[in-house]
Amino acid sequence: MQLRVVTDQPWDVRADVLVIPVSADPTFEGPLDELDQRSGGELRALAAFKELSGKRYATALAATGELPSGRIVTVGLGDPATLDRETIVRIAASAERRLGGRVVRSLAIWLTPLTGSAGLDGAANTVAELVARGVVEGSYDPKSIYLDAVESAPPQVDELILIAPDGDRAALQAAAERGVIMGEGANTARTLSNRAANDISPEVLAEEARAIAERHDLSIDVIEPERATELGMGMFMAVGRGSSNPPRMIVMRAGGEGERDALDRHLAIVGKGVCFDSGGISIKPSERMEEMKMDKAGACTVIAAMATVARLAPGTPLLGVAAAVENMPGPHATRPGDIVTALNGKKVDITNTDAEGRLILGDALTHAERQGATHLVDVATLTGAVARALGHLVTGAFGTPQPWYDAVMQAGDRAGERYWQLPLIEEYVPEMDSWYGDLQNSGTAEGSLIKSGLFLREFVTKPWVHLDIAGTAYFRKPTAWAARGATGVSHATLVELALAGARTD
Ligand code: BES
Ligand code: MN
Ligand code: ZN
Repeated sequence: MQLRVVTDQPWDVRADVLVIPVSADPTFEGPLDELDQRSGGELRALAAFKELSGKRYATALAATGELPSGRIVTVGLGDPATLDRETIVRIAASAERRLGGRVVRSLAIWLTPLTGSAGLDGAANTVAELVARGVVEGSYDPKSIYLDAVESAPPQVDELILIAPDGDRAALQAAAERGVIMGEGANTARTLSNRAANDISPEVLAEEARAIAERHDLSIDVIEPERATELGMGMFMAVGRGSSNPPRMIVMRAGGEGERDALDRHLAIVGKGVCFDSGGISIKPSERMEEMKMDKAGACTVIAAMATVARLAPGTPLLGVAAAVENMPGPHATRPGDIVTALNGKKVDITNTDAEGRLILGDALTHAERQGATHLVDVATLTGAVARALGHLVTGAFGTPQPWYDAVMQAGDRAGERYWQLPLIEEYVPEMDSWYGDLQNSGTAEGSLIKSGLFLREFVTKPWVHLDIAGTAYFRKPTAWAARGATGVSHATLVELALAGARTD
């Protein structure tokens, strides 16, 4: 896709489709009045007809009259006072998705109505980045993974034109290019997550990671079962042993071993990669079990974020650990009540084989620390409880100490992603006591979300944040701005966090 920033007025731009963002209950003044007049009164007429409302993410298709573009799509931005990074990405994505199935080679988007919003520093550049990212994310279509011709797919445009009258073209162009790369990274994570379990086994995920590593000059170490066992990854191996598709601990690295970034961190991003979560012997009910191919979303996000950081700031030190397994029942599967030794030496009583994410992550976190990590963030579809508590629009997060948690949240803000902090309540730790081991992997249902965080904390000694994306990683229903299936959530947060440590000299 060609990206072009123009400083012309929107009525002078020629494209197959011109996107006009419109605020709620629009008043037709200034440039919007000009656009309406040149469209032959089309915009005012559609507003009177209540087709054009300006409601956030609502779109309308309009004729162009004397305008040089082929069609208009209006997209509602709602109340401009409440625009933020997340909504700007979604507004652009909604416009792109409105064009599903249509023939569009060039798409022009008028940025001005989006740039006035509060809380956006360097507004015009930020908006250019977020809009470009939104178009790329909006063009994502999961059906195209396995089918050749998908009638309803959003168009893959040849040219994206961003219209910013009076803007600094070079700066806007650079910002928009960053946005495209961000969007492509999220889409990479989505495709990996959406692919079926008979297509992506842990071995195949490791091969995908290897291809990405080669493409972006990253080093990669794929730990196979024999070495994982030798190293002592007892929890990781306990989850993997039920399947005939053997597990893989995928370790990717940018920069030298133990190398610190500009913030003196050796940052590690760690992902849960359960290629299929049947629950194991503690088998899940069959209702919606097919969705459990998405239980690898955290690992896919980590792998994609490694690539994005390498594209945006090559050489920035970063460690990525993706723990890939299949959680299956079988003659070799771990049984409830089995006691295993974690990589950090703790004896864990596996009371529920469906609480497998924390087992593989525990060993992955320990491994990341042994590889020199000074700061850790893990991303995982860890609990159904987080989806019940927070729904699908906000990711649950734990972390300690607080300044590190806050640093991760600042990256989340820059990424336009929402999180809500959950507490690590000390007094609940004894509720995970085991008769036989140091702790069990699943306690009573009360406070189970908090206990999932407390369990992971047993396997870290450095500043750490855990992002539970079980509610946000996968949409059962499409929205105006996103297809159904994997969302790529938290990819941008991880990238922003890593880029904070990029060298600027
Ligand atoms: N992968 C699931 C969590 C999940 C649920 C992800 C729904 C996405 C959508 C996880 O491994 C799991 O099974 N968690 C259990 C934990 C329990 C056994 C302590 C859960 O949430 O029920
Ligand atoms: Mn499970
Ligand atoms: Zn799981």
